Amino acid sequence: MKLLVTGGAGYIGSATAQLLLEAGHEVIVLDNLSMGHPEAVPDGADFVEADLLDAPAVGDVFRTHKPDGVLHFAASSLVHESMRDPAKYFRNNVGGAVNLLEAMREAGTRAIVFSSTAATYGVPATVPITEAMPTVPVNPYGESKLMIEKILRWFYEIHRIRWVALRYFNACGALDELGEDHDPETHVIPLVLLTALGKLETFTIFGDDYPTPDGTCVRDYIHIRDLARAHVVALDEKATGAYNLGTRTGNSVKEVLETAEKVVGRPIPHEIGPRRPGDPPSLVADHERITRELGWRPECSTLDEIIESAWAWHSAHPDGYGSG
Ligand code: UFG
Repeated sequence: MKLLVTGGAGYIGSATAQLLLEAGHEVIVLDNLSMGHPEAVPDGADFVEADLLDAPAVGDVFRTHKPDGVLHFAASSLVHESMRDPAKYFRNNVGGAVNLLEAMREAGTRAIVFSSTAATYGVPATVPITEAMPTVPVNPYGESKLMIEKILRWFYEIHRIRWVALRYFNACGALDELGEDHDPETHVIPLVLLTALGKLETFTIFGDDYPTPDGTCVRDYIHIRDLARAHVVALDEKATGAYNLGTRTGNSVKEVLETAEKVVGRPIPHEIGPRRPGDPPSLVADHERITRELGWRPECSTLDEIIESAWAWHSAHPDGYGSG
């Protein structure tokens, strides 16, 4: 298929673009480079620098390239920023998605795979979380993604654009030359490894008094290779609606730190700090639906595999994509 990948210069988008190319698809990356890195666009993909808020430019991309389907990653995605600047999240994420869907409708592009998030669930009553559980976001980031899922439903009802939303849990790890490089970096695994590299003085555990086995928050860490592979699978015509993308295994922040110390072979300076506002104690995915319907299951998402791949990438790129 000829596929448009929005946000294909970003962390998850670039890894997915890479696997789509390996699966034999033709890939056009659209990215405004506000967070993405030109170096991350895989060889073999066409690249268009454009902003989804620029509706005429988006329309041009569809008229020029006539894609058969879209994988939509481009979005603002920092939970804490969304609590300070909700307008940015509703404008960029919801506004951008509407422009994209209108361009798809005009061009006759009939399928979209959308990057959604576990943040659509808010603070779940129980884990593991199934897709049938209530979606009650506790921040504008999660709300913006849930709004887009609802918009997708209406574009299917009215315009028959087939949609899949993949609700990611904690994406991490590296895919060969493609790694995690955010500015600012807020994610636990890169922060632990940047501390191991001496780029940061100390790693702070955000709270050790949660109702979890060791008192630190539990998350479902999924390797970027498994995550990206799920998008290739989600292009299947029988895929529809929202699917959780996680591993059904939870790991605590302390376990992340201990595994990282084992992988790098030395202690990593750390301290216990206060809780970070808005962090649910435990988020773990039930991925039974995508396994049953599409045959996807995690293959390389143990904490060891994730941190080993992330460490290889950060060691080779201590300053991220800007590393000389
Ligand atoms: N953490 C620390 N110290 C740090 C950074 C993080 O202890 O310096 C802890 C957090 O408190 C949390 C865990 O590590 O318990 C994971 O934090 P991340 O920031 O790496 O990831 P989140 O689980 O907060 O966020 C992820 C995605 C979001 C998504 C959310 C869904 O990055 O996009 O899951 O709940 F919205």
